[in-house]
Amino acid sequence: MAFYNKLILLCLILLMMISSEATSYTLDLIHRDSPFSPVYDPSRTNLQRRTSSFLRSIARSSSKSPSSPITPFSGDYVTRFRIGNPPVEVLALVDTHSDLTWTQCQPCKDNENGCYKQKTPLFDPKESKTYRNLSCASSECALMVDAAGGLYPACDQDQQPCTYHVFYLNHEVENNSKSVIPNSEGDIAVETLTFNDDVSVKVVFGCGHNNVGGFVEKAYASGVLGLGRGSISLVNQLGGGGGGGAKYFSYCLTRSESESSKIRFGSNAVVGRPGDKVGSTPLRNGLVVSVRNLYTVTLEGISVGNQRIEYSSYTHVLKRKGNIVIDSATSMTVLPSSFYDTLESALVNGTRAKRVPDPRKTNGLCFEQVATVNYPVITAHFQGADLVLSNENSFLEVGVGVVCSTFLRGEGDDPSVAIFGNMHQRNILIGFDLDNHKVDFLPTDCAKPQ
Ligand SMILES: *[C@@H]1O[C@H](CO)[C@@H](O)[C@H](O)[C@H]1NC(C)=O
Ligand SMILES: *[C@@H]1O[C@H](CO)[C@@H](O)[C@H](O)[C@H]1NC(C)=O
Ligand SMILES: *[C@@H]1O[C@H](CO)[C@@H](O)[C@H](O)[C@H]1NC(C)=O
Repeated sequence: MAFYNKLILLCLILLMMISSEATSYTLDLIHRDSPFSPVYDPSRTNLQRRTSSFLRSIARSSSKSPSSPITPFSGDYVTRFRIGNPPVEVLALVDTHSDLTWTQCQPCKDNENGCYKQKTPLFDPKESKTYRNLSCASSECALMVDAAGGLYPACDQDQQPCTYHVFYLNHEVENNSKSVIPNSEGDIAVETLTFNDDVSVKVVFGCGHNNVGGFVEKAYASGVLGLGRGSISLVNQLGGGGGGGAKYFSYCLTRSESESSKIRFGSNAVVGRPGDKVGSTPLRNGLVVSVRNLYTVTLEGISVGNQRIEYSSYTHVLKRKGNIVIDSATSMTVLPSSFYDTLESALVNGTRAKRVPDPRKTNGLCFEQVATVNYPVITAHFQGADLVLSNENSFLEVGVGVVCSTFLRGEGDDPSVAIFGNMHQRNILIGFDLDNHKVDFLPTDCAKPQ
């Protein structure tokens, strides 16, 4: 009997050891308007920062993303990690819309012309002991098959090197021009990626030898961290082979842009401890079936006080499951125009404050800020999860005595414009669960260590 008890104890200890082995990886998430960000411009006022952030939201939402093969991109957050051995620091734009992680690499095509100027030293694969090129026949190269639109593998024969071209839709909001530019071309390779806490993992990434900077350069980034839902996305690589964790990542955006926060990967990133009231909503395919890389969920309605506005009453397409994208890289929450109009009337009625012209020139909803404004409780009803949107997230001071809503009227009534933006995600710990196809929410004070 004693023997069996000891055996059971041993099994329990082994089980505990296995579960505590669960790996987690952490990176800093830095807002580009944060003093820690390389693009921080102390001479710009908060209003100027917010206006360009709003303009970036419009650029991203007006590009009809799901029907276009190209990923639109604005990029509010940057992160740092190291690659290679000896390790070289990479500053990357964080993008939940695209899959490939890439950075500029030596040698640059046509001497130095193939690379744009970057702040950190350029990564040279020849100097790294751990860099390995991949061929078209490799299983790692095959990871690119279901990658987001805009990423093209270039493979004809098995013996050929596995190469890529990645394109983003580049908006010049200030002068209204739109162009598709090849942002990066290069080799698909395996390399060691080192996280904040010195944990290293072998990952598949793009070594870009021919790069056009565009908005990536404007953010002083040397590349992009791809966190979409495709197989080559970092989140899927970490969950799969790299460390044996879950295909899961979470972040908690602070209300103040001057504070950085964390993005975590793996089973330690899972949102909620026993007893926490975690809300969960299923991940769905996008409106275009072939686009499965976005974090698309279903919004059923929004309540202002006791008045519930059904999302599905507006366009028949809104009834379908998968009608809004949760996006880390767009500031504002963008809603189809007729639904937005009803929501705006409800907000005007519910707030009972004096409406003033929009200083951002986005034709949004702005009020005179007086001490007596009674903001209504706004609740987003996602499928299976009601999320109370705090007033600090829904109304932002954008000028002296002027408060504007962070909801934005979409360019059309097409639900493909709908985005749940990062301003509404602040002070919520949000988990993206690719194993169980759901998004988890837990209201949290993100300024406190998680
Ligand atoms: C990787 O492949 C490229 C050709 O695509 C070649 O120029 C380069 O030297 C290779 N790098 C290493 C470290 O083998
Ligand atoms: C406006 O667009 C043109 C290309 O169409 C570009 O050359 C120019 O730099 C842009 N201007 C600004 C201010 O971004
Ligand atoms: C306006 O708000 C009041 C509550 O403050 C509500 O009873 C009424 O139905 C609302 N009217 C409209 C048209 O939304």
